[in-house]
Amino acid sequence: MFDIKTYNKISDEGLSILKDKGCNVGPDIKDPEGIILRSADLHNTPFGDNLLAIARAGAGYNNIPIDECAEKGIVVFNTPGANAEGVKELELCSLVMSSRDVLGSIAWVRSVADKGREIPALVEKAKSDFAGPELMGKTIGVLGLGATGAMVANIALEIGMNVLGYDPFMSVEAAWMLSREVKHVDDLDEVFSKSDYISINIPYNENTHHLLNDEAFSKMKQGIRIINESRAEVVDDIAMTKALDSGKVAKYVTDFPNETILKAPNVIAMPHLGACTPESEDRCAVMAANELFDYLENGNIKNSVNLPNASLERMGNCRLCVLHRNKPRMITRILDFISARNINVEHMINKPRGGYAYTIVDLGKKIGPKTAEEMRSMEDILRLRVLYVD
Ligand code: MLT
Repeated sequence: MFDIKTYNKISDEGLSILKDKGCNVGPDIKDPEGIILRSADLHNTPFGDNLLAIARAGAGYNNIPIDECAEKGIVVFNTPGANAEGVKELELCSLVMSSRDVLGSIAWVRSVADKGREIPALVEKAKSDFAGPELMGKTIGVLGLGATGAMVANIALEIGMNVLGYDPFMSVEAAWMLSREVKHVDDLDEVFSKSDYISINIPYNENTHHLLNDEAFSKMKQGIRIINESRAEVVDDIAMTKALDSGKVAKYVTDFPNETILKAPNVIAMPHLGACTPESEDRCAVMAANELFDYLENGNIKNSVNLPNASLERMGNCRLCVLHRNKPRMITRILDFISARNINVEHMINKPRGGYAYTIVDLGKKIGPKTAEEMRSMEDILRLRVLYVD
């Protein structure tokens, strides 16, 4: 069976799926066919020729060089929605922490622990020092309406907030999950200028790099509170520090601390705790393991972040899985190659994604290694796998 390398601690719920199917799984596997990981950074990791797929047990995938992988025919998967409940709950907690000085108050209470009978009176006297506004009736701008963003938007409505939702790339699945009472806003400046709170849930990429910068802060209300469950780099930390210093931003709750932001005032920083619940870790690991195995075993691609998604029920006794460039006549060339060898096509699927495409063809007859090698050398084919049914 397949060799799968793990780069982080992955829940046994997921790993046992792979082990039960006979895969060798562990951190010391050499030259793996599959990788399963959480946030380990693979940007400078050399990939062996045998590597077929990487499954990220989580939503964000900025720790993986997805373009380089696409070019090498390595499919990268993520697990959208699998940890959304865990992240949503931490965001709810973060919204409250950003409003009232819950953390400061707890620390203060500890500081008077030696005051004996005076404690109750001291507490009553000091409590207003930690007061802050309610969430009800305030406006929250939710940036990114994927699985987590949609849940945050819905729960914000439940607690009486007005919700502005911004997501230029919203998926149909996420749209179904979102309450109709969320006001969909196309203009980011409108979110900035109308929100009392902003919750960031967008994926980090070159388009979202430093989305919250000096210009963005200049459009926001004085005393806005910002929650970041996306990635550190979505926020320009120098600009955020200035905004915190001036009081423009009253509180910044981030799950992505770094040297710069920890020096700024009014920051609540957590150690990437969003998805750290046993339930989220199990769901992510199970989803990642299933995606990885279905690709290795059947060539089906579901939830890829760099190559086309395409699944086909197995038919025939030989399956060709062809990752290729998305160019005119590619399908014709593949089918001509097959029909020239007098082989019947049982069924097939082709899906494009940008400059890449993926074609799965089930054949009525097995092809041998020599034919496979000939096909592999066809121009514009990035990777060909031949899967046999015994
Ligand atoms: C994610 O990308 O899924 C979250 O940041 C949580 C995580 O990586 O553990």
